[in-house]
Amino acid sequence: MASQEIILVIDFGSQYNQLIARRVREHKAYCRIVSPRISLKKIKEINPKGIILSGGPSSVYQKNAPRIDKKILRLGIPVLGICYGMQFLANACGGRVERAKKREYGYAELMVDDARDLFSGIPRQSQSWMSHGDKIIKVPPNMVPLAHTSNTRVAAFADRDAKIYGVQFHPEVAHTEQGMAILWNFLYRICRCSGDWTMASFINEAVQEIQSVVGDEKVVLGLSGGVDSSVTAVLMNKAIGKRLYCVFVDNGVLRKDEAVRVRDVFAKRLKVNLKVVDASKHFLRKLKGITDPERKRKIIGNEFIHIFEKEAKRIGNAKFLAQGTLYPDVIESKSAFGGPSATIKTHHNVGGLPKKMKLKLVEPLRDLFKDEVRLLGEEMGMPEDIVWRQPFPGPGLAVRIVGEVTKARCDILREVDYIIVNEIKKTGLYRKLWQSFGVLLPIKSVGVMGDERTYEHVVAIRAVTSQDAMTADWAKIPYDILAKISNRIINEVDGVNRVVYDISSKPPSTIEWE
Ligand code: XMP
Repeated sequence: MASQEIILVIDFGSQYNQLIARRVREHKAYCRIVSPRISLKKIKEINPKGIILSGGPSSVYQKNAPRIDKKILRLGIPVLGICYGMQFLANACGGRVERAKKREYGYAELMVDDARDLFSGIPRQSQSWMSHGDKIIKVPPNMVPLAHTSNTRVAAFADRDAKIYGVQFHPEVAHTEQGMAILWNFLYRICRCSGDWTMASFINEAVQEIQSVVGDEKVVLGLSGGVDSSVTAVLMNKAIGKRLYCVFVDNGVLRKDEAVRVRDVFAKRLKVNLKVVDASKHFLRKLKGITDPERKRKIIGNEFIHIFEKEAKRIGNAKFLAQGTLYPDVIESKSAFGGPSATIKTHHNVGGLPKKMKLKLVEPLRDLFKDEVRLLGEEMGMPEDIVWRQPFPGPGLAVRIVGEVTKARCDILREVDYIIVNEIKKTGLYRKLWQSFGVLLPIKSVGVMGDERTYEHVVAIRAVTSQDAMTADWAKIPYDILAKISNRIINEVDGVNRVVYDISSKPPSTIEWE
């Protein structure tokens, strides 16, 4: 997204690039991550307020180590090199870098020797986070050292005339006590940013960008009701109104009242152009007799594509497909230096669709993180229960019904799930949990109700805390809340006489049961 004030982060392959970008945005400056192959011409065109060179796994003396055109350093645009970025600067400006005898990894006491600009207001001594095996052994002629640690003589340097700065530690990680303040100094004392970037300005820029990319064409969007596709829909709607065609497919394995709710929120309240396709019977027919989890997933994925494609054709002449891809999705499917590499995660959304339908992609959230997307949704006035929704898998309840998926079993799980979410919301735990939901097991158990013997279904409550779903802990929900949920389920849902709580973490379990 074009911005008047932009900070460029050059991606030298650091695992912390995402963090650098979001720290810059937290300081109200707009930021974009670019490949080191970016040309001098392109940099001049963008005219950034500052450039941050990220860390990375390479050594500057390696043949294929990533580097930028050195002329970029002579443009007078402030530059901050972090870790490998600093070593690149040292090497490029006439200093020397060598493999250190002692690798420095973890906490290091940072001692500030020169507390002007970059270290202005920073205590003389503070904790910093280091992760490097190379070391600057000769400081370039024009550079002055600004800080050291017990192991690293030059932990920061500057060429103030050229506005070039380097830090060996990582200011972007929370372990570096003064990291945010140091980045603030770079952005405001050195780059002279005005700090006018907000989510509201992001909306304006995004709307303009969408309008200029899409022109007068039509755009289709697969709306799932989850946070990402919902925020994308509302943003696209702001930009192109009725030329956005959202398709919501009821696949029969959705949560209670989902289709009604989506229609109510998007079509009625937010005035989004929406087509709800009720394909529930079709999906359930396809799922009949299927118990293998992967086959369930495949059937649901393929049928979705099939139906979506049909609907898109009906709209006629749509040229674009809008998707709620976020920054972590982008970075996970790209290599460090901006080139293509093995995809870590295959996307479950509408994978394969654009290629087949020859649609161009519009991904207005691709520079943002999940929590920023939520802020964006709030800024656009979207209802809280959408913006703060927990993730829900594409294959829906089908991967939470162990065994065959039938309408009757879906109906039971819908009621169970509704009670769980409802009770969790009442306690204020909903936002703290990554997910909380019910699972229908393929067994029955004996119970007693009144004086009657019962032989009915067993359901599990699954609730986890997590940062990113890669790892997760089972949530330590207080017993009285679990008791209330269990009691309500058994009393209110016909056909269930036993509730169990899943106390497994990921790994070795997964969040979903299938
Ligand atoms: P697991 O079960 O692998 O899930 O620990 C990790 C996270 O991913 C979600 N999930 C999916 N999301 N399509 C999706 O959009 C899928 O096929 C899918 N499978 C799992 C799951 O809910 C959890 O948040």
